[in-house]
Amino acid sequence: MSKKIFSGVQPTGNLHLGNYLGAIKNFVELNNDLENDCIFCVVDLHAITVKQDPKELKNNIRETVATFVACGINPKKSIIFSQSSVPAHSEGAWLLSCVARMGWLNRMTQFKEKAGKDKEKASIGLFSYPVLMAADILLYDSTHVPVGEDQKQHLELCRDIAQRFNNEYKVDNFFKTPEPLIQKEFSRIMSLKDGTKKMSKSELSDLSRINLTDDKDLIVNKIKKAKTDPLPLPSSLDELRERPEAKNLLGIYSSLLNSTMSKSISEFEGKNFSEFKEKLSEVLAEKMDPISKEIKKLMNEKRFLDEILLDGYKKAYEISFLKIKKMHEIIGF
Ligand code: AMP
Ligand code: TRP
Repeated sequence: MSKKIFSGVQPTGNLHLGNYLGAIKNFVELNNDLENDCIFCVVDLHAITVKQDPKELKNNIRETVATFVACGINPKKSIIFSQSSVPAHSEGAWLLSCVARMGWLNRMTQFKEKAGKDKEKASIGLFSYPVLMAADILLYDSTHVPVGEDQKQHLELCRDIAQRFNNEYKVDNFFKTPEPLIQKEFSRIMSLKDGTKKMSKSELSDLSRINLTDDKDLIVNKIKKAKTDPLPLPSSLDELRERPEAKNLLGIYSSLLNSTMSKSISEFEGKNFSEFKEKLSEVLAEKMDPISKEIKKLMNEKRFLDEILLDGYKKAYEISFLKIKKMHEIIGF
């Protein structure tokens, strides 16, 4: 059966290896399957839930498009567009926010993490962020949503919102309940400086992540400086339980090669980190350096990037406009 794929990435700069291995690599595989209809959205409305510099935001929107294309998403096959260009997203979020319950949103762990200690000072947008995400997904009757592990809870909420709308207005199956597509083994890539923390755009130290724009020398240097432990590499998965850094680096290696942890473990068991790091740097540079070069090249082709967004906008507008129109009828406007 053909799948309707939808996913979004925030244009907040510093797209990194976690974004790639946790999400974008999966987007590319889904894009390559001829049976799928894919939509990949640059979620700039989500980005402004925390303060953004307008100039940087504009640049980051283009850089996200460039990254999608450089990683292998074909804009002729998949729709690529920016969320703010299609008004149905904001409107859909409002309509759905009248169905979503405070109690559901209060449980969202990402809000708790991002809002920090002083929740009173967080924007209302940061709190209602998952409702906008639900609108993104539901407007296109999406059946599958590829995301990293950290978005699982938001997807469950999206399913709850869809069901609640269907039940409340007695419109069976009006909104489809989408399935998350989360990589089994490598859905959480961790910081290179602390194997217990997620690799993240907002981490202060640039050494904590491999940015998708990092060149070969930078990659090699960051892997050299990545945190390890004093033991040689283990011979079983069990031994990795207490060794988060070793587990993360072996995970990155396996994921890049589309291999498994057990294969990588048997390749390096008993060896020291310097030998493994050399091999890991080699594989990383081989896979990521061409992507980094292509992103930089595309960033000089602004008109090409803007045309992709314009083309995507037209297609996304048409689909989402019809869904909003039906929502109006159902609600009674
Ligand atoms: P964001 O940059 O927050 O918009 O995330 C874009 C996509 O990358 C989402 O599907 C996230 O779940 C995924 N992602 C972000 N950080 C990581 C990470 N450290 N490991 C795996 N996936 C990630
Ligand atoms: N919230 C997601 C993130 O931070 C981004 C996102 C917005 C998204 N809308 C979406 C992901 C719809 C999947 C589907 O990563």
